[in-house]
Amino acid sequence: MKGVRNVQRMQSASGPCGDRPQPLSDLRTALVETPGRNVDHAGADGASDVRAGGGRNDEVPETGRGEPPLSPSQRTAYDAVLSGQDVLVTGPGGTGKSFLVERIIDELRGRGRAVAVTASTGVAGLNVGGSTVHSFLGTMLTGDVVQWDRDIRCGESLHPAVRRRLRVTKTIVVDEVSMLTGDYLDMMDAHLRWVCDSSTPWANKQMVFVGDFLQLPPVTTHENKPARLWAFNADAWHGVHTHMLVENHRQTSGPFLDHLGRIRVGVLDGAGVEFLQGRVGADIGDAPLKLYTTNRSVDAENAAGLRSLGGRSKIYRCRDYGSPGRLAQLKRRCLTPAVLTLRVGAKVMLTRNKYDYEEDARYTRFVNGDRGTVVRLPDGSRPESGEAVVVELDSGGTVRAESESWDIKNADGDVLATMVQYPVRLAYALTVHKSQGMSLSSAVIDLGRTFAPGQAYVALSRLRTAEGLSLAGKVGPEQVWADEAAVEFYAKTT
Ligand SMILES: Nc1ncnc2c1ncn2[C@@H]1O[C@H](COP(=O)(O)OP(=O)(O)OP(=O)(O)O)[C@@H](O)[C@H]1O
Ligand SMILES: [Mg+2]
Repeated sequence: MKGVRNVQRMQSASGPCGDRPQPLSDLRTALVETPGRNVDHAGADGASDVRAGGGRNDEVPETGRGEPPLSPSQRTAYDAVLSGQDVLVTGPGGTGKSFLVERIIDELRGRGRAVAVTASTGVAGLNVGGSTVHSFLGTMLTGDVVQWDRDIRCGESLHPAVRRRLRVTKTIVVDEVSMLTGDYLDMMDAHLRWVCDSSTPWANKQMVFVGDFLQLPPVTTHENKPARLWAFNADAWHGVHTHMLVENHRQTSGPFLDHLGRIRVGVLDGAGVEFLQGRVGADIGDAPLKLYTTNRSVDAENAAGLRSLGGRSKIYRCRDYGSPGRLAQLKRRCLTPAVLTLRVGAKVMLTRNKYDYEEDARYTRFVNGDRGTVVRLPDGSRPESGEAVVVELDSGGTVRAESESWDIKNADGDVLATMVQYPVRLAYALTVHKSQGMSLSSAVIDLGRTFAPGQAYVALSRLRTAEGLSLAGKVGPEQVWADEAAVEFYAKTT
C-alpha cells in the first residue's frame, strides 16, 4: 500500500487525463483548509447523539417522527439519492453518513422501492441491518472479473433465487465501501449485467455507496494484490456523483476537530504533535476503554479486567438457530460474544441501540458503544426473556439490557441463522477495526503498532471531545498516514 507518513515525505501526484501534476502537499492543504464544521445540537456539552429527540436545525424540516433534522449537506445528498443518481455519500468520521443512510433506506422502502442493503464486511452489514455484498451477489467471490468469469459465468453456478432477487432490486446500498477493492466493484458490475442481461452500467440499478476512503482501506494480501485497489479506481465508478458531508455531529468545532481534519489527510504538524503529546497519559477516569490495533492485546486486556474483580464469573451461552456454517459466520461477525462471561462490577459496552417511543418522539435509552458497569446479572445460564444485564452507564442512569437477536439474512430477507444473547460485551478494550463507526465519550488509545493508513484517524475520530482522549504513548508522524491515492481522490472530487 502506498502511503505518505508525514507532510515532509509528500510526493507529486499526477491527475488522470493529463491534468497538470499538482504537488500532493498542495492538495492536502486545500483539503484541510475546508475542514468539517460542527452543527450545534441542543446538548449543552456538544454531545450529539440522537438522544431525547436530538437537536434542531431550522434550515431543514424534521421528519415528523421526532427524529433530528438532516444537516444541509446531508439534505443535498438525500435529495440526490431520491432523484435516482448513483452516489457516493462520503465525509469525515462523525458527519452522519450512517445516520443519513438509515433515513434514505427508510424513505426509499416507504416509497415501495426494492432496496438491497449491503456492506463490505459482516460487522458493517449487521450494523446497517443488511447482508454482505458477497452474499447479496450470490457469488461469495472476493476476487476480480477474471475469477468471476472462470468460476461463475462459465460455471453457471448461480442459484435461480439469486438471479431473481438481483433482477428485481432497483437500488443497491453498499456501506463501508472503502473496504472494497476496485477489482471487486468491476466484478460486481459485470455480474449484475450478466445476470440481468444488460449492457448498461450496473445493469441500470441505482448505486448508493457510503464510506470514507481516508478511513480503513481494503484488506489485501501479498499474494492477492488487486490491480485496482480503491473502489474509485474501478472502471465502473464513472458516473458516481460524490456528495461530501461537511457538518460534524460527533465533535464540536475547535482545535480537536481541526487537528482531526489534518490527521485524516495524513498531516501531523508541530501543533498536532503538541496537542497529542498533551493527551499522553491523560486522566480520563477509572477503568477507561482501551483501543488497540491488534486482537491479541484486546483479549488479554479484557481477561485481565475481569480477573481483577472480586466475586465469581457467570457464563451466558447464546441461544442459536440455523446451520452450523451460517452460525459460525454470525458469531464471528457479532460484537456480542456467543459465550458471554461477566461479573458484577465488570466494565461492559452495549452492542445495540434501544429506543423508547412516546407520542411522536423517539428517545434513546442506550446506543451501540455506550459503556458502563454491570450492577446486576441475570439468573440462569442462557438468555431468558424478561431477564436483563443491568448496567450503570458512565454517562449516568441505569439501563436494563434485555436479550436481543442477531440474524444473518440473505438479500430476500430470509433468515439463515439467528443468535440470541444479552447485548453487551466486555469493554476494557476493543480493536480499532471493530470501533469503526462508533462514537465514544472516552478512551485510551494505543497507536504503538498502526499498520494501515487511516488507522490512527479512525481511532482518534471516535472521541466526541479531546477531554475524553488519553494516549497510551507518544504519537508521531510515523503513526499517522493517509493513502496518497485517497487524498488525491478527495482533492479532485470535492
Ligand atoms: N442530522 C443529525 N442530527 C443529529 N445527530 C446526528 C445527525 N447526523 C448524525 N448524527 C449523530 O452523529 C453521530 C455520528 O454520526 P454517524 O455515526 O452516522 O457518522 P458517520 O459519518 O457514519 O461516522 P463514521 O465515519 O465514524 O462511521 C451519531 O451519534 C449520529 O446519531
Ligand atoms: Mg458510519
